[in-house]
Amino acid sequence: MASNWVGELIYEGKAKRVYRVNNEFLVMEFKDEVTAFDGVRKEYAPGKGRLAAAQTAFFMRLLDKYGIRNHLVDWDGDRKILVRSLKMIPIEVIVRNYAYGSFLRRMPLVRPMTKFSRPLVEFHLKSDELHDPLITMDDIVEAGLASREQINEIVNTALSVNSILSELMISRGLVLVDFKLEFGVDKSNNVVLADELSGDTMRVLINGRHLDKELFRKGASAMDLVKAYEELNKLLGIP
Ligand code: C5P
Repeated sequence: MASNWVGELIYEGKAKRVYRVNNEFLVMEFKDEVTAFDGVRKEYAPGKGRLAAAQTAFFMRLLDKYGIRNHLVDWDGDRKILVRSLKMIPIEVIVRNYAYGSFLRRMPLVRPMTKFSRPLVEFHLKSDELHDPLITMDDIVEAGLASREQINEIVNTALSVNSILSELMISRGLVLVDFKLEFGVDKSNNVVLADELSGDTMRVLINGRHLDKELFRKGASAMDLVKAYEELNKLLGIP
């Protein structure tokens, strides 16, 4: 299967490359690299690409079992996943269970790691130039990025993803602090969960210790980050 996954490079981001196989499928390749602060800090992280691809495949397959439609088709067992091509909605959907990160910067009245009375769902416009600003549901509708119905579906899906992942994490002694999702629309106009779900896009703690990219943001080496991803995969039973 993996040998058929050839295509034209259509996008290169900080952590991934995307190739177009045909009208229907894309290949996402996870790089052995880690970046933080909009790419200002960047290091070679041998093994990270495979670990993040494995995490994404594992979480997407788990969510699929719970009926959450997502773009994953297959994983090559290494750094690539085969996914369905979608029309992407250019917003980041963040779900938060505890106060952390950019939430604390905009709302300093809440103490770090306070558990929210219910999970927060927020939207950010995908824009490196503007540093992914927080936007409202009305902003999204008025800009024509998604309909109100689609946004409601996205919120419901994001909350379901949170319940499924939080329950899994709790069963392994882990705490899911927050995570980021992206969505696209398929040819039948269904909203579909897309992009990645990995230590790069979530905060996960074990006994207060990060097993996610926050380690690197806080100054740890790329090697320590790779070790943390290995530990997370072992705890979750990810190959
Ligand atoms: O920085 P912030 O607190 O907004 O991040 C919330 C969550 O979303 C974190 O788990 C972070 O890793 C993730 N995130 C992401 N990509 C971004 C911004 C945030 O995966 N561009």
